[in-house]
Amino acid sequence: MNYPDYRPRRLRKNDNFRRMIRETNLSADNLIYPLFAVPGTKVKKPIVSMPGIFQMSVDHLVKETQRAKDLGIPAVLLFGIPEKKDEIASGAMAADGIVQRAIRGIKEKVPDIMVITDVCLCEYTSHGHCGMLDKGEVDNDSTLEVLVETAVSHAKAGADMVAPSAMMDGQIAAIREGLDEAGFETVPIMAYSAKYASCFYGPFREAAESVPAFGDRRAYQMDPANSDEAMREITLDVGEGADIIMVKPALVYLDVIRRAKEEFDLPLAAYNVSGEFSMIKAAAQMGWLDGERAMLETLTAIRRAGADMIITYFAPEAAKLLGK
Ligand code: PBG
Repeated sequence: MNYPDYRPRRLRKNDNFRRMIRETNLSADNLIYPLFAVPGTKVKKPIVSMPGIFQMSVDHLVKETQRAKDLGIPAVLLFGIPEKKDEIASGAMAADGIVQRAIRGIKEKVPDIMVITDVCLCEYTSHGHCGMLDKGEVDNDSTLEVLVETAVSHAKAGADMVAPSAMMDGQIAAIREGLDEAGFETVPIMAYSAKYASCFYGPFREAAESVPAFGDRRAYQMDPANSDEAMREITLDVGEGADIIMVKPALVYLDVIRRAKEEFDLPLAAYNVSGEFSMIKAAAQMGWLDGERAMLETLTAIRRAGADMIITYFAPEAAKLLGK
């Protein structure tokens, strides 16, 4: 059918028509809210490059989690900044480590929100890399053991799901086996399967104090030029026992999200990363963009590309606008 018989504008006439034919929906159900835990009490330190986002001590973190729950957000994703960093990331798996304390604090006060933990070592190593160093390089297999211990310590503290993000080969299988052996066979794994070496993590590295002391992460995170390789990474993670797969970042990888949705049938997450958040915030502060509309359009686009869930610093703001 062609114009003038077919006039697409007929169904765009008003909001009721538009709502009726809308193909993609976005709700608080789709959102996961990342939080940064720091030691101490009454700490709420703004992250300059991420307006509205803070490093918080556990007391504030619990309050913020309660607010997220009240807005209808089903899950938070925890990152921790330890009191001290060392070569071997001992803060990552300590029973009284910062993330472990944050999990217990949230579980005690806000029991019915889901707590997901990021399992990586870059916030805990003095050199800022995501694994154990051997002759100046990140060693894959010795890192696996540390990641397993970290994931198990999160589960012991009460985490509902773990999210390994170190991009070490074999990390999902190793963590699955470790969790099962420790009696956590019902704790799922959300795998950062296709995680790119992206400049859009810049503001996060301020938030998590995890800038690498030398070099960069290109020897373990993926090359932005590759999409077939992302499918191979996801295939590996599915085979190793991932329950949810992830593409990260989201915005400049919408094509990868779409492919992942088409080629795999596991639930798919996308990480709307710090730089993607900061760009919109900065443009809105300058008065160059309508920040609310840019946020909703962005989140809708990530859903339209195929993501079932979106990890985003916009979660509370978006949930508030979207209603429960
Ligand atoms: C840990 C990790 C990073 C992010 C999530 N987990 C940083 C990195 O890999 O450098 C980035 C999140 C964001 O930018 O919002 N490895």
